Amino acid sequence: MRIEQPEGAALDPLAGRRILVGISGSIAAVKLPLVVSALAKRGAQVRCVVTPSAAQLVSPVALASLSRERCYLDADQWCHTAPRPLHVELAEWAELVLLAPLSATTLGRWVHGLGDTLLASTLLATEAPVLAAAAMNTAMWGAPAVAANWQQLQRYERVLPLGPAEGLLACDRQGSGRMADPELLVLALESLASWGWQRDWQGRRLLVSAGPTREWFDPARCISNPSTGRMGVLLAQAARLRGAEVDLVHGALQLDPSWLEGLNLHPIDTGAQLQRALEQLQPQADAIAMAAAVADHRPARTLSYKPTKAELDAAMCGPWEPVPDLLVELVSRRPTGQRILGFAAHSGDVLPQAQAKFARKGCDLLFANPIDQPDAGFGSSTNQGWLLGPGDAVERLEPMGKLALAHRLITALGAAL
Ligand code: CTP
Repeated sequence: MRIEQPEGAALDPLAGRRILVGISGSIAAVKLPLVVSALAKRGAQVRCVVTPSAAQLVSPVALASLSRERCYLDADQWCHTAPRPLHVELAEWAELVLLAPLSATTLGRWVHGLGDTLLASTLLATEAPVLAAAAMNTAMWGAPAVAANWQQLQRYERVLPLGPAEGLLACDRQGSGRMADPELLVLALESLASWGWQRDWQGRRLLVSAGPTREWFDPARCISNPSTGRMGVLLAQAARLRGAEVDLVHGALQLDPSWLEGLNLHPIDTGAQLQRALEQLQPQADAIAMAAAVADHRPARTLSYKPTKAELDAAMCGPWEPVPDLLVELVSRRPTGQRILGFAAHSGDVLPQAQAKFARKGCDLLFANPIDQPDAGFGSSTNQGWLLGPGDAVERLEPMGKLALAHRLITALGAAL
């Protein structure tokens, strides 16, 4: 059964997809009802398969309720009234599989070809792409047998492996073993649906800037812009899921912090701090995506105290100075072979303004988008516009989800390398 979808769901790569959620025995299983609920709300058809140990941790009744489908257990596998084996039926039904949490035991069964639970036999039988998110105790994760099995999984076609994050685990260990957060699981599944599992950026390093910069009049007041950082962070995650090592230099972001997992974070606030971070990180990068919304001007002098409202008027009318064009600086000192993607935000007639900006900035690619359309610009979940470059090439990109667009831009940047 599917929930009635709002307008715009046509652009959502998860809407209408048949997603099989396999849950194995790790305490992180308690987070899966949130994921199942989020997928069902986005119009996906969701079925859950739960191993016997996972059924001790998460309620199959809750999963059935939230998915609007029955939840499958080992006891359902062999039934004399079923015309076909259940694991084959489920394996062929699935368009996408989310395997989360992936425990040490289910991982071992999978890579050694053992189909002795409904989930394990379904995994062997399916030809659908699988997002596999491991979760277990730190010592178990470090055990040579588990490490070897995980290594083996990296070589599988159709599998997007998501290693565990660091954190405080339920077993009171501080370390690696925490399952990726529900929001990140949904994002990675969307990436699997819109791009796939191919890791064509393996061995490459991408530098991304995202979010707004702020310029301060005094310790309490600043000038900035409404950028949420969403486009830049999605570019960073898209590249990371495709195997890249990603440095993300970011201003104040307005999005779920779990989207930052797996990225090398370099928080900044002002244009000057962004400039320093870029100078430091540029030499190591194979490519750069300059998605930050840089405030164009700053007060020439920042007061060290908070003036009254009346005094502030004078401060605001005081001398201003331009923030240097950081994209132009990046282009002017780039090492041979490094490729740079710039962005352009415009209202009105976008293309001619973008073409002039592309010529002025000298970057290899420029994505230009309108900021005065309902399905594009600051904070929107979709975007559209024009991709300029390499050279004279101009491509119109119709409205699409920002993650799908991020993949589109990462593909273009990769092709230019
Ligand atoms: N940019 C930059 N440094 C600045 C201003 C912008 O590096 N001081 C970068 C942005 O990150 C983006 C591109 O330049 O990749 C275009 O930014 P945009 O705000 O569209 O244009 P501006 O350069 O500010 O020019 P204008 O406001 O005149 O359109």
